[in-house]
Amino acid sequence: MIVVTGATGNVGRPLVRALVEAGEEVTAVSRRDGEVPRGAQHLRADLTDPQSLTPALDGAGAVFLLTSGEFTAAGDLGKVVDLLRDSGVRRVVLLSSQGVATGRHAPSLEEPVRGSGLDWTVLRPGGFHSNTFWWAEAVRTTRTVAWPFGDVALPTIDPADIADVAAAVLRGTGHGGQTYELTGPAPVSPRDQVAAIADALGEPVRYVEQTRAEAREAMLRFMPEVVADSTLDILGTPSPEEQRVSPAVPRLLGRPGRPFADWAARNAAAFT
Ligand SMILES: NC(=O)c1ccc[n+]([C@@H]2O[C@H](COP(=O)([O-])OP(=O)(O)OC[C@H]3O[C@@H](n4cnc5c(N)ncnc54)[C@H](OP(=O)(O)O)[C@@H]3O)[C@@H](O)[C@H]2O)c1
Repeated sequence: MIVVTGATGNVGRPLVRALVEAGEEVTAVSRRDGEVPRGAQHLRADLTDPQSLTPALDGAGAVFLLTSGEFTAAGDLGKVVDLLRDSGVRRVVLLSSQGVATGRHAPSLEEPVRGSGLDWTVLRPGGFHSNTFWWAEAVRTTRTVAWPFGDVALPTIDPADIADVAAAVLRGTGHGGQTYELTGPAPVSPRDQVAAIADALGEPVRYVEQTRAEAREAMLRFMPEVVADSTLDILGTPSPEEQRVSPAVPRLLGRPGRPFADWAARNAAAFT
C-alpha cells in the first residue's frame, strides 16, 4: 500500500489518481476532508502531529511525503521519518524544492530523509505552473493580472508531471538515494503565461506590470514575509541554475514535460 500525503494538493491529487489507475492500493492523507478517486481511501492526518499519521501507515510499504511551508514552520520532519521507519515503511519519496540546491532553503528540509536508512528519493522541483492560480480571482473578475518582472522567464513545471515522476519512483526500481531536480520543458515569462491563459479562455486578459514593492505588498496578504521576499528574488533575479531546463522529466518519463499552455488549457475553468 502507498500513502500519499498532501493528497488534496496540486501534486498529491494527480499522484493519487495515477497510482490508483496503475492498480495500486492507495491511502490519501490530508488535514481536511477531500475527494479522492474511487479506489483510494482518504484519512485525515496532520504532519505536524506525527502520531495522527499512525492509522494511515498500517500496512504501508511506501510514502510520498511533502514539505509544505506550514509543516516545515511548525512540524518536525525527523519525527515523521522516525514514525515511518517504526511503522515498517521501506520507501519514501520526498517532495522538496529546487531551493535546497540553490541555497534558498536550508538542507534541513531534506536531511532527516537522507539520513533515515529508508530507500529514499528526493524530488526538487522549481516553481509550479499552478502558482498562477494566485491570479485566478483577478482574471475571473477583471480579466487583468498585476504581477512584477513580466519578461523574466523561468522553466515552471506542471504539478501533474511531478506526480508522474513520483508515481514512477514509488512503483519502480533504481531510484534509491537519488535526487531529481525537476523543471518544465521551457522557460516561460509571466507575460507569456497571461497570454496562454487568455488563449485558453478565448478572451483578452490584460497584463499590468507591478513594481517589486507593489507585488510584495500584495503577496504579504497571503504569504509570510520571508516567503514573499525569496519568491520575489527568484521571480526577479533568478540564478542561471533556476533558469536552466532540467533533463530529468523527459529522462524519467520518456516524454517531454507539459508546457504551461497545456496546463492553462486543462485548468481554464478556474479562470472563467
Ligand atoms: N508551488 C511551488 O512553486 C513549489 C516549488 C517547489 C516545491 N514546492 C513544494 O510542493 C508542495 C506542494 O506545493 P503547492 O504549493 O502545490 O501546495 P498545495 O497543492 O496547496 O498542497 C498542499 C497539500 O498539502 C496538505 N498539507 C499541508 N500541510 C499539511 C500538514 N501539516 N499535514 C498534512 N497535510 C498537509 C494540504 O491539504 P490540507 O490543507 O487539507 O492538509 C494539501 O493537500 C509543498 O511541499 C511545497 O514546498 C512547491
